[in-house]
Amino acid sequence: MMKIMVLNGPNLNRLGKREPDIYGRETLEQIMASLESAAKDNGCDIEARQSNHEGDLIDWIHEAGDKYTGLILNAGAFTHYSYAIRDALASIDIPSIEVHLSNIYARESFRHTSVISEVTIGQISGFGSIGYELAFKGLLHYLKGEEY
Ligand code: DQA
Repeated sequence: MMKIMVLNGPNLNRLGKREPDIYGRETLEQIMASLESAAKDNGCDIEARQSNHEGDLIDWIHEAGDKYTGLILNAGAFTHYSYAIRDALASIDIPSIEVHLSNIYARESFRHTSVISEVTIGQISGFGSIGYELAFKGLLHYLKGEEY
């Protein structure tokens, strides 16, 4: 059974109420529930966690590297400046995919930079909540490719 860690960073616990015109009206719980059911249909287990604290995310990235098959990460604003999260991703040997609900390239210029992209296999940005399922599909495809 493949085990995928899904991590959400700062302020994503406020989805549903937070700037709904940008991030939509679904809560994080609803988005993670849809992802879990899509994953189950594909024989995968999802472990979804959220934290507003950089250190938690770093510890969980390490844990994912030791115990999981792949990682999906929406690092929120840490995406744009956290070299510590980037280094954590570089320290693990499982594939990771970066997700953003909004199109970060169509927003303020500080969001145009991702310091983590270089250490992920890819990025999904701008497709709203379905982005997590797109990332899951991409991850599965990548992992199956490695197995063949
Ligand atoms: C985000 C985009 C980031 O710029 C922002 O800081 C977030 C959410 C997104 O999902 O679109 O918190 O990662």
